[in-house]
Amino acid sequence: MKGLLLAGGYGTRLRPLTFTGNKHMIPVANRPILFYGLDHLRSAGIREVGLVLGPVHEGIQEAVGEGRAFGLDVTYVHQGTPKGLAHAVACAREFLGNEPFVMYLGDNLLQEGVGGFVRAYETSRPDAVIGATPVADPRQYGVVELAGDRIVSIEEKPRNPKSDLALVGVYLFTPSIFEVIDGLTPSARNELEITEAIWGLVQRQRPVTVQRVSGWWKDTGLPADLLEANERVLASLRPDRLVNQGEVRPGAVLRGPVGIGPGSVVDSGAEIEGPAVLGENVRVGAGTRIGPGTAIGSGSVLEGCAVRRSILLERVHVEGPVRLRDSILGRDVSVRCARATERDTELIVGDSARIAL
Ligand code: G1P
Repeated sequence: MKGLLLAGGYGTRLRPLTFTGNKHMIPVANRPILFYGLDHLRSAGIREVGLVLGPVHEGIQEAVGEGRAFGLDVTYVHQGTPKGLAHAVACAREFLGNEPFVMYLGDNLLQEGVGGFVRAYETSRPDAVIGATPVADPRQYGVVELAGDRIVSIEEKPRNPKSDLALVGVYLFTPSIFEVIDGLTPSARNELEITEAIWGLVQRQRPVTVQRVSGWWKDTGLPADLLEANERVLASLRPDRLVNQGEVRPGAVLRGPVGIGPGSVVDSGAEIEGPAVLGENVRVGAGTRIGPGTAIGSGSVLEGCAVRRSILLERVHVEGPVRLRDSILGRDVSVRCARATERDTELIVGDSARIAL
């Protein structure tokens, strides 16, 4: 069994996040989203992973290398111009060879990981295992319609969904998927759709197992989803990520689970309520309040502000009596606030923004 982790601009859908670099390197609980996919593949017993890169892939190879830190053997597959998920699979054909593989969309987070997909495959050896879970608005996903365990239809982003069961961004395929992919033509959004490839298997009467995903699942393409993923991952962090390796000065107040990286300082008069994590060399000044669901990137400085349920990337400066909530601040962002505001402020800003309130 191999793994295929997609970190390419695999689709043509534009996401309204303006951070420079690859979106899979945006941190959730201070770790790139992509790392969770690598962890999940490893936990399912997979060793060999193909990492599919699109045109924007700065930082990924440097951070993941050959995958040793994850207990994996990582091979890079260059997708070039992204033409859809099925195109990404076709690009990895040589790497995948004749083995079944778990395909994981690198911007997805699945609480329960991918072990269930591997077990479902080992139980009945179908041609594919797909994951499905009910969602409020299925129109933005692939949607599967079932009669009992039988697949009646599968459609990509249907205007009138026939069920509320969305396809999650994890799939298990056998090499039979290539037979279908070879015959695909571009969809209305000009992509080779993996959803159509799965439907092709069903039409050929090949067995496809639907794996119900019961834990939480997030496609982190939108800011609100990223914030929710951050909150949920923080709430489930292992104790080894919640240690204090920095300096908490007398008079500082820490409540709940808080992880503090090396070189970070929490000054007297600062308050942190977990779950929250601080990276390395973070400075939390007197009078600053950090609330639950917050991850502060390395090198950031907070002075006299309040921040809750937010993601701050590296080297963010926030100064003055602003109350940030549900915010994502890119690398090297500076927020300065002269006067206390009555309401909370929500900011979603890309790298290097300068904001004066
Ligand atoms: C892709 C798939 C879709 C699936 C979704 C899960 O959508 O095409 O079927 O439900 O991932 O995140 P995309 O991210 O390309 O819009």
